Amino acid sequence: MTKKWWHDKVAYQIYPKSFFDTNGDGIGDLKGVISKLDYLKELGVDIIWLSPIYQSPFVDQGYDISDYYRIDETFGTMEDFDTLLAEAKKRNMYIVMDLVINHCSDQHQWFQKALKDPEGEYGDYFYFRKGTNGNPPSNYRSYFGGSAWEKVPGTDYYYLHMFAKEQPDLNWNNPKLLNELYTMINWWLEKGVAGFRIDAIINIKKDLSFQSFPPDGPDGLASVWRMVESVNGVGDLLEDLKKNTFEKYQAFTVAEVFNMKKDELIEFVGENGHFSTMFDFSAHSLSFGEHGWYDSNPIQFEDFRKVLFHSQLECQDVGFLANIIENHDEPRGVNRYLPDYAQNQDGTKMLGTISVLLRGLPFLYQGQEIGMQNCPIDSIEDYNDINTHGEYQMALDAGFTEEDALQVCYINSRDNARTPMQWDDTVNGGFTSGKPWLKVNPNYKELNVKTELGDENSVLSYYKKLIALRKSENYKEVFTYGTFVPIFENEPDIFAYERRLDNQSVIVLANFGKEAKTLVLDQIADRPVLLTNQPDVQIADNQITLKSCQVIVAGTTE
Ligand code: GLC
Ligand code: CA
Repeated sequence: MTKKWWHDKVAYQIYPKSFFDTNGDGIGDLKGVISKLDYLKELGVDIIWLSPIYQSPFVDQGYDISDYYRIDETFGTMEDFDTLLAEAKKRNMYIVMDLVINHCSDQHQWFQKALKDPEGEYGDYFYFRKGTNGNPPSNYRSYFGGSAWEKVPGTDYYYLHMFAKEQPDLNWNNPKLLNELYTMINWWLEKGVAGFRIDAIINIKKDLSFQSFPPDGPDGLASVWRMVESVNGVGDLLEDLKKNTFEKYQAFTVAEVFNMKKDELIEFVGENGHFSTMFDFSAHSLSFGEHGWYDSNPIQFEDFRKVLFHSQLECQDVGFLANIIENHDEPRGVNRYLPDYAQNQDGTKMLGTISVLLRGLPFLYQGQEIGMQNCPIDSIEDYNDINTHGEYQMALDAGFTEEDALQVCYINSRDNARTPMQWDDTVNGGFTSGKPWLKVNPNYKELNVKTELGDENSVLSYYKKLIALRKSENYKEVFTYGTFVPIFENEPDIFAYERRLDNQSVIVLANFGKEAKTLVLDQIADRPVLLTNQPDVQIADNQITLKSCQVIVAGTTE
């Protein structure tokens, strides 16, 4: 396997709106990001992925871009961005932008021109189709709920939007549009960004026959997923994209891919794949409901372990996955993956450990390093996220009471991860001197960066040690290139694996159970303990006892 510059890096996702506000308008900004670079460097972060900062009406929080060449003024200026690039470079850090090219904003000038003349030049940048008998061209349900087709007033035309109606899908069959996109991507790469996190990219290939599917919900619609899953040929588009852009710059790319077809792994992230890496969403996907959040499933430990082990084994001879426990589209990992009794400091550290030491690129999401949790919100009006409102409505339509629909949102809402970063124990967690755009989680008084920096047993101090271990001279190679070998894969409550490279070996043992557990493991006592979240470790000869929520990382036998 050819070594690449990004293989041994640790990445961190910033959700700029909620990271740090420097001018008191209640919204995080680029100056805020710049002022926290040292904090991130100290933590051990190399690559920073910024959720979108382009000009946007923020219907979907910046994932609706109205000008790809401008920084939205709520975040600052292009000069601020250039400063960020320069300051990151000084610290040997890399900036990765979010690339949202499946769709743009309905306020983008392309779409504004298209609306005026759906049959004209810009009409062909999008998917305009005539309806049949007063109905939309097909029965697709958009990802955010409701029809994926929106009528253009005063015409027979509808346009396709797989997400919100303010996010019209771009027509990837149009060479002119592709040329515009490639030019834009190269412009950012020329500027010095290290690469991109690529949004919703699997959706770019459409079945142009736009056939309807049998309805799968009470609204008579069928999820637009069905179309994505039924169509072939996305690979050709992706290859063309790579050849015309990323490849020339050795850019790092991490893709958001949900429904790859079987056996495509090598095409996606193999040595000559379309992308450097892609997120492993297998654990997250376990909770997907058949119709929406209202029938989503709580995650069982055995399934969690099974799917992660599967992804690890499947990918290790092919390439690198990007490992996460949460991002801006998901509730907090601690609440999602840990049973109630484990949603404490020990459990939080344990979950972080098993994730960060997997084979692949560790991605942390802002606040994960201090153990941030889901945020209680009392009324649907206080949710900002467009998706949450759509899912709330779907729950009501399916017969849920308002109270139960709200509970569905508490468990699943994307706003859980979007509440402002908690920097200290002053008002608003020190995030802003103004009124925060989204509620701050009331637990900020105990759970914040400043308090945790001053406590050597905090989650934050632990994450620092964990990342330092992963990047340490002695163990860097084995954590980066070492094979993943499952251990105790049928033992209830135990998440354990070995990372092995040449004569090096590291063992990670975690007890997700409520009770202590004794495991028999050859020569375990001869291994140095490199890290643990509960200092009292009971090892003797071939036996080790793990307390509830204890994790131990043991190194190569001396
Ligand atoms: C991706 C983003 C999400 C956004 C959607 C539409 O899934 O991560 O936040 O809403 O794409 O762009
Ligand atoms: Ca601000």
